[in-house]
Amino acid sequence: MILTPRNVLTSTPMEPFATKVAILAQKLAEILAEKLGHKSSFFQESCLPSNCYLRLNRYPPCPIPSDIYGLMPHTDSDFLTILHQDQVGGLQLVKDGQWIAVKPNPEALVINIGDLFQAWSNDCYKSVKHCAVTHPTKERFSAAYFLCPSYETVIESCSLPSVYRKFSFREYRQKVQEDVQLHGYKVGLS
Ligand code: OGA
Ligand code: NI
Repeated sequence: MILTPRNVLTSTPMEPFATKVAILAQKLAEILAEKLGHKSSFFQESCLPSNCYLRLNRYPPCPIPSDIYGLMPHTDSDFLTILHQDQVGGLQLVKDGQWIAVKPNPEALVINIGDLFQAWSNDCYKSVKHCAVTHPTKERFSAAYFLCPSYETVIESCSLPSVYRKFSFREYRQKVQEDVQLHGYKVGLS
């Protein structure tokens, strides 16, 4: 079968995955906002399906026994990310200042808070620093769904006094790109 971008997504289980996690991401965002006392349609209005995206990550085996990352340590620049990793494993995150490996469980989804939720929640929720390490002999796959708003959306904290000045998602994405070019890594919220 010839795989075109269209049938790659429709002939594999990716389409039902994307549809389901899109609904889950909206629900989780609403619940997390409600926990802070904010019942709003903000996420539904600003994070339309066309603003969100699904990324398929493929990590080839890497036999070099050193600290070669599959994906550098970073925080995600969205509201929240829903990640599915296969049984090979390799996702690590920082908890209480220590890097810990997230045990692979193909039955489970990992939910990461992103920078935008940190800013919106005024630091009540913190974006989590994470990375992917490679496996010496096995190829690894993961799928990540990013709950993102439109570029015009202004991120303003839900309570006062706000820790961060308000900014648009476009501004934030530009800053991330500039920081990566300038420093070689993402600086994140400031
Ligand atoms: C990402 C990410 C981790 C992984 O795509 O932003 O952090 O395990 N992926 O692939
Ligand atoms: Ni990430």
